[in-house]
Amino acid sequence: MLSGQDLGLDYRTGTSVAHAVDTVSLSVDQGSFVGLIGPSGSGKSSLMYLLSGLKRPTRGTVAFNGQDYRQISTPGLMQLRRQRFGFVFQQHFLINYLTSLENVMVGAIKRNHEVVAYAQELLRRVGLGDKLRQRPYQLSIGERQRVAVARALVHRPAIVFADEPTASLDQATGREVIDLLVDYRRRSGGSVVVVTHDPAMLTGADRVLQMRDGRLS
Ligand SMILES: Nc1ncnc2c1ncn2[C@@H]1O[C@H](COP(=O)(O)OP(=O)(O)OP(=O)(O)O)[C@@H](O)[C@H]1O
Ligand SMILES: [Mg+2]
Repeated sequence: MLSGQDLGLDYRTGTSVAHAVDTVSLSVDQGSFVGLIGPSGSGKSSLMYLLSGLKRPTRGTVAFNGQDYRQISTPGLMQLRRQRFGFVFQQHFLINYLTSLENVMVGAIKRNHEVVAYAQELLRRVGLGDKLRQRPYQLSIGERQRVAVARALVHRPAIVFADEPTASLDQATGREVIDLLVDYRRRSGGSVVVVTHDPAMLTGADRVLQMRDGRLS
């Protein structure tokens, strides 16, 4: 469904060049849970940016459902991300003056009664059915991250990219967040790509990729 071929990403600062991603090929099958693990600076986030079209590679190609990103304009890639992908980051990036429900609706493509009902259902599923009207500052850090997960799922993405979604949480709360993503995969057939430092978050993954110095090992 998603494939990267011979991917490279260089960052140039002054005269030096960092090879953040160096000749990486991989594919993410439909409905799979793929983990990406590796030391700090090994290129995990960079690889995820390439796969999700947030950055264009210096070398190599990425394709989603057979469509090569090189053939898609930058606004087109933005639209692809918004419609087909979901994102969860270490920080929740919720909007402080919006309620939980309104924050989830930020991820929605359409706004109608059905979508609102689905947003409410997602919040119930993540255990926040009684906190639909709270604002982020009235929630715990783990609860905020669960709102962020619901926001990432409300448009039923084909792939959820999660970059260290559990890094600000204790291990038990972190695992609950991962389980929400795994549950989404089971219900919807979507894929989940999780970047983490903690192997305990990848129990049950179909594949665990190890990254080191920009390469998969
Ligand atoms: N904007 C940038 N400009 C220059 N170099 C960068 C930039 N972003 C990342 N890098 C470099 O690219 C390499 C890979 O960074 P990346 O953020 O992908 O690593 P990571 O595996 O996600 O690390 P972490 O676990 O700390 O998040 C690092 O050496 C980093 O210093
Ligand atoms: Mg990173």
